[in-house]
Amino acid sequence: MSHTLAIIKPDAVGAGKAGAILAHLEHAGFKVRALRLTTMDAKQAGAFYAVHEGRPFYAELVEFMTSGPVMPMVLEADGAVAKLRDTIGATDPAEAADGTVRKLFAESKGRNAIHASDSDENAAIEIGFFFSAHERLRL
Ligand code: RTP
Ligand code: MG
Repeated sequence: MSHTLAIIKPDAVGAGKAGAILAHLEHAGFKVRALRLTTMDAKQAGAFYAVHEGRPFYAELVEFMTSGPVMPMVLEADGAVAKLRDTIGATDPAEAADGTVRKLFAESKGRNAIHASDSDENAAIEIGFFFSAHERLRL
């Protein structure tokens, strides 16, 4: 079993879709191993998405990610990183496959309902961003 980080983004939490997305993820075979509800500030969101600093959408992305509560969670499955990327679908919901989280729940490429780590290395870093050493010990 391996782990990945998902974040239900402010658009989905604000629209009351967090429960439906969580159910979808559990139905897809993920086990929720840690979960929080939190609101990121600009410093946190900027650091989390630092890889995109300088891209044209970076300021908008930071503004969006700080616009309301988010729900970061650690998900467990066999091949969790790749499985979650498949489950959430393409970045732009217009291009996401039928049945994916973004196809079902996202509004647009910017307001796209959910984040997922893109590698095992980044999953470990991103889990550390939201969850304490004490919580990580139990994973
Ligand atoms: P994420 O990191 O949130 O899981 O999304 P992703 O891997 O599918 O996409 P990525 O390329 O990492 O982009 C991060 C987030 O930035 C916003 N974005 N907006 N307007 C745009 O052209 C654009 N491109 C990216 C999205 O919210 C995307 O999820
Ligand atoms: Mg990404």
